[in-house]
Amino acid sequence: MPGETRVQASGTGREAGTTPGAVLIDGVAVAKAVRADVAAETAALKARGITPGLTVVIVGEDPASQSYVRSKEKASIEAGMKGETIRLPASAPQAELEAIIDRLNADPSVHGILVQSPLPKHMDANTVVRRIAPAKDVDGFHPVNVGKLLIGEKDGFAPCTPAGVQELLVRYGIDTRGKEVVIVGRSNIVGKPMAALLIQSGAGADGTVTVCHSRTRDLAFHTKRADIVIAAIGRPEMLTGDMIRPGAVVIDVGINRVDDPSASKGYRLVGDVHFDSARAVASHITPVPGGVGPMTIAMLLKNTVRAARQAGV
Ligand code: GUN
Repeated sequence: MPGETRVQASGTGREAGTTPGAVLIDGVAVAKAVRADVAAETAALKARGITPGLTVVIVGEDPASQSYVRSKEKASIEAGMKGETIRLPASAPQAELEAIIDRLNADPSVHGILVQSPLPKHMDANTVVRRIAPAKDVDGFHPVNVGKLLIGEKDGFAPCTPAGVQELLVRYGIDTRGKEVVIVGRSNIVGKPMAALLIQSGAGADGTVTVCHSRTRDLAFHTKRADIVIAAIGRPEMLTGDMIRPGAVVIDVGINRVDDPSASKGYRLVGDVHFDSARAVASHITPVPGGVGPMTIAMLLKNTVRAARQAGV
């Protein structure tokens, strides 16, 4: 990937005074490097009279979604983009949301459109996502972009979380070519697009990919033979060290809240991987938080700046 910063974790990534284990993949550092690259490309586009614009639309008051949306707007502005958020009440009719999407589709100063999930129950997310112009669908959820990803057409947009996982692998110099990659989870947002990214030919891909899911007969059989395990199940600490081949790379996409009376908030965040047991056997591992999580917004910005470049206005 020419022109991009390759992140070398400070030292070995292993902290002094702890048991030797896997190198920690530092998603905060990689996300920062991606965002710096995006800011540089944004500045170059602005010099040509194009200011990349990202508009996020949120419907309803869900506090977690409100917080995500604020982070997305802040990050886009920090990168030098035009970032805006449109807020609708939970009671808004779907036609109102669709009219806003139509207006944004037609607005040349808006290059990326993201409708935050989840939507209120009276709205149909499939219809809404299809309303967004594929060229502005920086979430990569429109069927046109899903198809382009599968075909390997590079002008489409891949969903931000799996794209972020691939970016982590590339920037840590983790070879995927010919490697056994086992993805646990088959969601449309992570598992399926992750598989589509890694089976393509080229840098950061060329993997031999297996997708496991709730009906997989013997999950450990698959994970134990993997060179790279990607956990995206949404179940706290489900993947344990005994399910991982020594020396494997472990990528944990999960972010789960578990009760913890000793924590100030009464809960703590854990991944889909049991961190301590996996770290003891893996060669590299992403922590939760601070692994895959920070990459999602960074990749959203990366998609947006490319949408602006491709639009050329
Ligand atoms: N809600 C939580 N994560 C996401 C995301 O990546 N995109 C959208 N549109 N909604 C979300």
